[in-house]
Amino acid sequence: MIVVGGSESLKLARDVSRHLDCEFIPSQKEEFSDEGGFLKDPGKLKGEKTILVQSTCYPTNENYMELFHLLDTAKKWKADKITAVVPYFGYARQDKRFEPGEAISRQTMIKLIETFNPDQVYTVDLHAHDINCNLDIFTTPAYNITAAPALAKKGKEKWDWDNPILIGPDENAEKWARKGSEAIDSDWDYLIKKRLGPTEVEITPKNLEVEGREVVLIDDMIGTGGTMVEAIGILKDKRAKEVYSVCTHPVLSEGALENIREAGAKGILGSNTIESEVSEASVAPLIAGEIKN
Ligand code: R5P
Repeated sequence: MIVVGGSESLKLARDVSRHLDCEFIPSQKEEFSDEGGFLKDPGKLKGEKTILVQSTCYPTNENYMELFHLLDTAKKWKADKITAVVPYFGYARQDKRFEPGEAISRQTMIKLIETFNPDQVYTVDLHAHDINCNLDIFTTPAYNITAAPALAKKGKEKWDWDNPILIGPDENAEKWARKGSEAIDSDWDYLIKKRLGPTEVEITPKNLEVEGREVVLIDDMIGTGGTMVEAIGILKDKRAKEVYSVCTHPVLSEGALENIREAGAKGILGSNTIESEVSEASVAPLIAGEIKN
């Protein structure tokens, strides 16, 4: 078995290979070329189960292109079974046509990945209303791993929470709050959110008992941070003792970290589906565990 790391996910791929106790090959990029990833010694893949790990976060198109090159290379060099691991699945947020004439970009990306005939695809917390429903549109076997339990455990270990409540900042995040709470045996709930624009959201306070408690907001991703900032404000008004902001994918655009800290978050934690200064919870053991099974 061989794990190949795309340049966006080198550290994570190396960790996955350690957990699987197998060889790791990093993708290379040539300066002054067209930037596609290539492998120095592709002959090694022949007859080997090959796991390609590449998140398709920003720069999304470049990272997808590298994933396609790696998939194509693995096919050409006759890897035995090819697993594409796309921990952060770029364009997954465009899961419907909001305006006529728009592409459903998530479907477009799935079609493109399937062009290269991988044997299976894994992703982590695919942006979806239901954790598993969006996998139906793959024709290749596809699996979604949730990082919520790992995030909750890491947060509890790091901040020594006593009696926390995990809260999803919107109805969709209810799943992550529930799954995280099961891992640390805590309470959970969720808020009601309405999106007003790309960076603006309105969150309706619910009748939550958070006064004097450690509150952990948990979501699939932090983008601009607008959702977290709004939710933190509401929880502070409700006299939460401390508020933490936790997500699987720290996309972190437009000064998200500063804004969340300024809003009063005591701590921010993400997973390493995307490398960032808050990516302290590793999904490597989860990915390796699923592949072993
Ligand atoms: C939305 O449904 C997602 O689960 C996140 O809440 C959202 O993408 C976060 O975006 P932002 O940080 O820009 O508010």
